[in-house]
Amino acid sequence: MIDLDVVIVGGGLAGCRAALEILRQDPSLKVGLVAKTHPIRSHSVAAQGGIAAALQNVDTEDSWQAHAFDTVKGGDYLSDQDAVAILTQEGPEVVIDLERLGVLFSRLEDGRIAQRPFGGHSHQRTCYAADKTGHAILHELISHLLESGVQLFDEWYVMRLIFEENTAQGVVMYRLTDGAIEVVRAKAVMFATGGYGRVYNTTSNDYASTGDGLAMTAAVGLPLEDMEFVQFHPTGLYPVGVLISEAVRGEGAYLINAQGDRFMANYAPSRMELAPRDITSRAIVCEVMAGRGVNIDGSAGGPFVHLDLRHMGKEKILSRVPFAWEEAHRLVGIDAVYEPMPVRPTVHYSMGGIPINTDGRVRSSATGLTEGFFAAGEAACVSVHGANRLGSNSLLECVVYGRRVGASIARYVQDRALPTVDAVVYLQEARETIQGLLDRTGEYRINEIRTAYQDCMTEYCGVFRTEERMQRGLLELKALQEKAERIQMQDRGQVWNAELIEAMELRSLLLVGEVILTSALARQESRGSHYRDDFPERDDRDFLHHSLVNIVEGAVVRSTMPVVIDMFEPMERKY
Ligand code: FUM
Repeated sequence: MIDLDVVIVGGGLAGCRAALEILRQDPSLKVGLVAKTHPIRSHSVAAQGGIAAALQNVDTEDSWQAHAFDTVKGGDYLSDQDAVAILTQEGPEVVIDLERLGVLFSRLEDGRIAQRPFGGHSHQRTCYAADKTGHAILHELISHLLESGVQLFDEWYVMRLIFEENTAQGVVMYRLTDGAIEVVRAKAVMFATGGYGRVYNTTSNDYASTGDGLAMTAAVGLPLEDMEFVQFHPTGLYPVGVLISEAVRGEGAYLINAQGDRFMANYAPSRMELAPRDITSRAIVCEVMAGRGVNIDGSAGGPFVHLDLRHMGKEKILSRVPFAWEEAHRLVGIDAVYEPMPVRPTVHYSMGGIPINTDGRVRSSATGLTEGFFAAGEAACVSVHGANRLGSNSLLECVVYGRRVGASIARYVQDRALPTVDAVVYLQEARETIQGLLDRTGEYRINEIRTAYQDCMTEYCGVFRTEERMQRGLLELKALQEKAERIQMQDRGQVWNAELIEAMELRSLLLVGEVILTSALARQESRGSHYRDDFPERDDRDFLHHSLVNIVEGAVVRSTMPVVIDMFEPMERKY
């Protein structure tokens, strides 16, 4: 058994920032960071457009209050406003801290950090490093982390959370390279495991975004919050779905339909291409459904619209959004200096997740807290993003709440004893789980079930939803859960058994999908990213609350939690 003061699961921005903070606060603590890939390959590295903070470098009228209002309105009034105040007040400070750590931000002429416009933000406040901001931040954080004394367990897959008597006590993990299994015991466990984009068939997320942290949390009977709110980023490159950053529109690109019209004039005339993502994604799908989408040969009636950068000119394209240009060129052979890019919505982000308070403590219910269990980043729901996240607020959340939760953990573990954990029992259980999977000789390949499942979620719980479609989705999902018990394993080895990891990830994906569908069925209104054709209005009387879903003895149990509204009263949301 490995004993640590703190074990952090997840090597992305929130996990790395938290680890650094814990060791800044108390260098004597033993902190371990476990990640299923090397942290440098975690999904935060793919964040592109920037990090929002009211630095006032470009727009002196900006303020944290304006940022808070934009965030709450963008979230369709479901954000907890105390958490938003922390996010936006601490924003400038954490960005300056990143600058001091050495992050290579793009600069204004006078040397200060440059800021660009972004969707749903009323001021020019998104700080950036061209369109590779996540890359710039993560690389710097990791190089500091490696010098900090943290113990890195990379390419270890965490199989379960050890949670007894309302207390997180550690994790059980499996090493990809040789099949070793270890129990880690700790005074505090933090999940920073990221999102679940791979629940869907078209996503900007990497292959590792399979919702494992959410599934492990639900598996011990704890609730997940607001899981119906799935963000579709408007501009996934067609057909692959990789992200074409909102920075491209922030720098001036147009969305045009098959008729060459800037159709956003009909959906969000005051913000045009820089409307929030929920509105822009729905607009694109509406254009396609109305026959104004584009085909590969340029004719009307196709499945995508165009993102047109041509008027921006080569110099601006290649200096401000070089990565977007490169992606389109490399993946679909488009030179965006001369041709528009084909785009359509792609699953990008989870507004919901593991419910936490503003110190990162995981909730056991609407009113209770767990002991020793913390979360931050996309895996968590604090909830700053409400029903729809604004672009460039997620890097901010990772850094603000990563730092804050790190400090909170450093305080929490002082004077606490290590829990008593029976490692033999957990090791035995893990070995049986692994052997049980390796012995599967059923009739289905994992890939077959995963693809059918991703198609099912995309078809029945996408941008537009109805009761009937989601019920059909739930039925299909149940059938796929049964089939998943009858998989066939072809690799029975111990060394780099990626098929075994896929089998465990499939369980996570299926569980997360069930919670998404259940939560989405219960919310009979339209709010933010959750749009119901059968309930097209927002309904503050009956649904201005957070949803909580627990799995209790295999059954799904729903409850609600109040929204913190202490700054901005809900209003009609118009752009
Ligand atoms: O479009 C983007 O660059 C994504 C940014 C974000 O999700 O915050």
